[in-house]
Amino acid sequence: MRRKIAAGNWKMNTQIQNGLDLAQAVLEGERPNHVHIIFGVPATHLAHVQAVVRNANQVFCAAQNCHQAESGAYTGEIAASMIAAIGVQYVILGHSERRDYFGENDQLIAKKVKTALANGLHPIYCCGEKLPVREAGTHIALVSEQIEEALFSLSEDDFRKVIIAYEPVWAIGTGVTASPEQAQEMHYTIRQMITGAYGQSVANDTSILYGGSVKGANAAELFAQPDVDGGLVGGAALNASEFLTIINAL
Ligand code: 13P
Repeated sequence: MRRKIAAGNWKMNTQIQNGLDLAQAVLEGERPNHVHIIFGVPATHLAHVQAVVRNANQVFCAAQNCHQAESGAYTGEIAASMIAAIGVQYVILGHSERRDYFGENDQLIAKKVKTALANGLHPIYCCGEKLPVREAGTHIALVSEQIEEALFSLSEDDFRKVIIAYEPVWAIGTGVTASPEQAQEMHYTIRQMITGAYGQSVANDTSILYGGSVKGANAAELFAQPDVDGGLVGGAALNASEFLTIINAL
């Protein structure tokens, strides 16, 4: 089902107590029932935040990464099964920071997507171009390739469990947001690609989030676009009242 989603990506921020306070403040805030809220939290916070959201209506927790292997000698890594075992249902995969700083490419992320799905997790798959690619006008081709490589070998059943997040890298943490038209153009293109690969009904049911300097002040115009189903929010998700403004813009 195509849902309206406000997902926060806390990245490597918050200590456990202020993370819990943040989640609690969002839970207690005024928010519409139809919006699905996801907190993407650091690994050390997962079980704790999961305990806070477990009984809340439409509020979930996400890991920010998982390893592609089921288990084994991978010091420092976390298996999808470990995330699922504590009741967490989502995992962010392919974030541009993972691609840039940890050398992840589409082939590796494709493996992580498969492992996550095999363990019952819903991947939030991130894609997006850097500034030179946008300036060269090849952003659609690049994002199409990222999606095709990592997602289009999935079965229809599995693909239906995926959330896509379009995050132009030039808009992440920069304060420069894609214009509503730029976001809509890419989201529409992604939905058309899904129609081509899996058919209209799957495309209509897929949630496609926008990420990159989403704030209370610009959320409504982005979310007003017909193919923008919500946001994957970094900095602004670290402040409960700002994140609640974003949630209420959906
Ligand atoms: P900002 O909202 O801080 O630009 O971060 C976006 C992001 O990377 C979410 O995953």
